[in-house]
Amino acid sequence: MTFEEIKSPVKQEIIDFSATFKDSMKTTVPLLDLITRYIVKRKGKQMRPLFVFLSAKLFAETNEHSHRAAALIELLHTATLVHDDVVDDSNMRRGFFSINALWKNKASVLVGDFLLSKGMLLALENKEYELLEIVSYATKQMSEGELLQIEKARKLDITEEIYFEVIKMKTASLIASCCAAGAASVGASEQDVLRMRSFGEHVGIAFQIRDDLFDFDRNTKSGKPVGGDIKEKKMTLPLIYALNNMSVIEKKKTILDIKYRNNKTTINRVIDIVNKSGGIDYAQNKMDEHLDKAMDLIKDYDDSEAKNALIALVEYSIKRTK
Ligand code: IPE
Ligand code: IPE
Ligand code: MG
Ligand code: MG
Repeated sequence: MTFEEIKSPVKQEIIDFSATFKDSMKTTVPLLDLITRYIVKRKGKQMRPLFVFLSAKLFAETNEHSHRAAALIELLHTATLVHDDVVDDSNMRRGFFSINALWKNKASVLVGDFLLSKGMLLALENKEYELLEIVSYATKQMSEGELLQIEKARKLDITEEIYFEVIKMKTASLIASCCAAGAASVGASEQDVLRMRSFGEHVGIAFQIRDDLFDFDRNTKSGKPVGGDIKEKKMTLPLIYALNNMSVIEKKKTILDIKYRNNKTTINRVIDIVNKSGGIDYAQNKMDEHLDKAMDLIKDYDDSEAKNALIALVEYSIKRTK
């Protein structure tokens, strides 16, 4: 199934979503208006709204609650990306300049806050308390995940276990919320909402492993810089595996290089080491394990167009090239 085909059961929903999303960013402050228009123009894959709508449609027809969930979550996602590029000192996003590259950190921090508060207000104004609860929990976890990652990047002592804890919090929590909020929006039972949350969590873990693999791949144009994670001393699964499978001396040298000699030569050397280490295959296997767990959680639902699209979206999450 192509990405367009995946969207087809919720085609109208996505069209309506784009309008709501754009509207929800309206402002009379000229600089903010300029930046939000730039954001709308260079939109992302919009996978999270897709997870919301398809998770809803697995149980019933989508409704206004599903729409608010999709808009709130994409606003929040966009806010975290704007902040994330400040945190990661990254000048590229969605194949073009990041907000901080164009308007600097000061404006980026405030734009992120604006988007987050607009999302929260959208839910509050419509008394969407269940949605707010689901999403606020994810927001809290995302900040915790990012901070745990910063701590580990300073100490360079991350283990595989902590890596999974980080990605669960910083990425999987929001995708889990998409699936839970989608199901909840159409009145699915508590048990189904929990099941969909768990489904989304496994998808989110696989999704972030895929994202981390881009950093070692010079051949795929993902729209984000290659080696950016190593530059920021972020040790992701393929690198953790490589470090755990080299001699003690080699490991010490590599860690010292990342820590104190973090230049182009080191970054390229680390990318090569990881590619030769089997770390890529290892990460891919872990990704597949989570994908299987996700698939298993939805296999018993009745067959439908939405279910097939959801399955295809899960596959897309790990096969995507951007
Ligand atoms: C990027 O998410 C942030 C991660 C959690 C890896 P996406 O890859 O879904 O970003 P966009 O919205 O499509 O740009
Ligand atoms: C994505 O973090 C998760 C959040 C934005 C909270 P990353 O820093 O790994 O994602 P990219 O690669 O910049 O999109
Ligand atoms: Mg980043
Ligand atoms: Mg980051």
